[in-house]
Amino acid sequence: MKSSAPGKIILFGEHAVVYSRPALAAPIRQARVEAEVLDSDSPGLWLDAPLINFHGELSALPADHPISRVFSDLFQRLSLSAPPDLRVSIKSDLPVAAGLGSGAAVSVALLRALSEFLHQPLPVEQVNQMTFEIEKLYHGSPSGIDNAVIAYDMPVYFIKGKPIETFACAKPFTLVVADTGVPAPTKESVGGVRRLWLRDTNRFEALFDEIAQISTMARHFIETGRPEALGELMNQNHEFLQEMTVSSAELDALVATARKAGALGAKLSGGGRGGNMIALTNQAQAQSVAQALTSAGAVRTLITEIC
Ligand code: PMV
Repeated sequence: MKSSAPGKIILFGEHAVVYSRPALAAPIRQARVEAEVLDSDSPGLWLDAPLINFHGELSALPADHPISRVFSDLFQRLSLSAPPDLRVSIKSDLPVAAGLGSGAAVSVALLRALSEFLHQPLPVEQVNQMTFEIEKLYHGSPSGIDNAVIAYDMPVYFIKGKPIETFACAKPFTLVVADTGVPAPTKESVGGVRRLWLRDTNRFEALFDEIAQISTMARHFIETGRPEALGELMNQNHEFLQEMTVSSAELDALVATARKAGALGAKLSGGGRGGNMIALTNQAQAQSVAQALTSAGAVRTLITEIC
């Protein structure tokens, strides 16, 4: 039994989403995680997971490791008294801890493959909820946007605590994703914004309101087939993120490089202070924008078609 889940990118609204403003995210279909479950001829539950450098019996992985938790939460949910004898392999072309949702994609792919193998497939909302619980181990207090976009495998308009709204694009668009190579735990940038928000609540609330408008307009442009209009919105969203102190010299340099190389707009994506940026380009220019980003120091670039 095989199942796969996509990576994700946050298009608009990161950080503001933690304060109940809308954000948009989309799956990256070119980079996925695949989980395969097979009967095992030897007793025990065997896991092959090169992405965490683990090959062995699941019991050798700490019980509080997010991957162990996927298994234990699922077995509990399915009321299994003892873990079955299985062989499970996880393959991923998503980089780990790079803001592309690798952790959530592993959870979603595993939950699906395991529950289907055990003849009790989980509904998508249950996969989403269980992945959210496991995301807390990676990120502390996530908004829930990553698990939603990956579990639903559709663009989402996400407001914390509200039912998930997926939406369709009228016209696909091309993004170049570039990684600064600077590790930046989302937990820390979220904590940093919280401290500033506590000190200067009115200013931050106003910034979040501006970003909320951008996310709402962006959804409209995507749904009505005007993705080129997203470029200007990306530039504006990036400025607000700079004001919130979650950009960095490396992110700003890549954003400037992408614009100079002909991108229609660019912004950081995700937690910020490192990690990834995204640039909107015409399909024909994507390669040259990616090359310019590599020359400017990006450690990895990925060209992806959204929708
Ligand atoms: O770093 P990422 O791609 O997992 O995105 C984090 C997005 C935040 O809005 C900063 C945090 C969250 O939980 O939504």
